[in-house]
Amino acid sequence: MPLNIVVGAQWGDEGKGRITDYLAAGADVVARFGGGDNAGHTVRVGDETFKLHLIPSGIVHEGVVCIIGNGVVINPKVLLREMDALAARGVDVSPARLKISDRAHLITPSHIALDKAYESARGDEAIGTTLRGIGPAYTDKASRGGLRAGQMVEPESLADAVQAHVAWHNETLTKVMGAEAVEAGSVAADFAGYARRLAPHLVDASAYIDDCLRAGKPVLAEGAQGTLLDLDHGTYPFVTSSNVTAASALVGLGLGPKVVGDVFGVAKAFTSRVGSGPFPTELSGEMALRLRGTGENPWDEFGTTTGRPRRVGWLDLVMLRYAVRVNGLTQLVLTKLDILSGLPEIQVCTGYEVAGAAMENFPASLSILSRCTPVYETLPGWDDDITGARRFEDLPANAQQYISFVSDKTGIPIPLASVGPARSQIVK
Ligand code: GDP
Ligand code: IMO
Ligand code: MG
Repeated sequence: MPLNIVVGAQWGDEGKGRITDYLAAGADVVARFGGGDNAGHTVRVGDETFKLHLIPSGIVHEGVVCIIGNGVVINPKVLLREMDALAARGVDVSPARLKISDRAHLITPSHIALDKAYESARGDEAIGTTLRGIGPAYTDKASRGGLRAGQMVEPESLADAVQAHVAWHNETLTKVMGAEAVEAGSVAADFAGYARRLAPHLVDASAYIDDCLRAGKPVLAEGAQGTLLDLDHGTYPFVTSSNVTAASALVGLGLGPKVVGDVFGVAKAFTSRVGSGPFPTELSGEMALRLRGTGENPWDEFGTTTGRPRRVGWLDLVMLRYAVRVNGLTQLVLTKLDILSGLPEIQVCTGYEVAGAAMENFPASLSILSRCTPVYETLPGWDDDITGARRFEDLPANAQQYISFVSDKTGIPIPLASVGPARSQIVK
């Protein structure tokens, strides 16, 4: 059985969690391969809403084993809080169901303090990070100063390592950044406690997934963030600190490329972005308010992790074609189609122009990107409430046309579109 991969095709929050939950019905294992609790994935089943930050979105399916892969950076305090909240709602998060790669890295309070200090020092140039310590944790991983989850099998020795790690960060915090030191002793004691609880969940995740694939069990890899937040392929430096594209599923789970089946790219029917950085199709004024919502609906465009209002704009097909290429997408899934209902006309960006010349590819340079003018095509809208649609034929002709247009212009099929946040609100 192959490994299917779900990734975000825009700037995150595309609805990967709900699509992963949908596809998890056909999987034995769901594995997160990157990011940390900067992610916020929403799954809605019946009246219940689950907001997941570290635990894979397959957890709401009873028979599915969930894995946090080596590419993830784990704040153990946040993970335990999430596990406890799920357990209180009757979801099984025992070691049999939730496994953690011994090669994943740990996020500590001094990573978070550094993230805050660096963001505040950037002033007007701030990235708008989630302040979850993600950048400093991946920096430590690359500079070989990180703490690995596998160290949790020896809580006392982990505590010693944490003590030294925080003391090391305190040098930078106090002497370079002019920030407060983090209390190393209490953090070390906390980590020994987290380790005692989490150690039973540790596995060699690569070996575990390899065994599953060889036994014919379908595995689904759940991405975090989105293509344009990728460290290499995103709008650098306004990106996250890890690779998030489909290839990173293999590195982040410890697998080779031959196992890959389908690569699903999830995109909203419009575009959103939270945090700073360029956004060619960004809208302001009335239309932005219309797409964002006021916050009164749970699906309105306010961050799942930070609550920040998201920036919104029209769908950008230059960006989606780029996402198709850099991820090798085989399928596109459109979400939040229902939000476009009631608009008389819908604009779609089909190309960019710079100084009157067409720009074929999404540029690396932010200076060029900032000079790109989107070229729009206007498609007719629809008035009907589509939240009850379940088959393509149930959709009004103009909504069908919208989906077909996006599929034609990106060159890949769109087998699924969502028309509401609930598990059942999917059009096939
Ligand atoms: P993720 O990070 O990609 O998993 O996405 P988030 O969960 O952060 O944000 C997506 C938001 O849109 C959540 O509030 C979802 O419940 C909501 N959502 C997902 N699909 C749909 C849809 O088709 N219609 C509506 N109205 N809301 C949706
Ligand atoms: P999901 O998985 C949307 C953004 C932050 C910021 C930049 C860097 O829910 O789609 P970081 O804390 O990672 O150093 O912040 O990346 N960002 C996200 N935006 N959805 C996410 O995750 C994000 N994870 C990080 O807003 O602009
Ligand atoms: Mg999210």
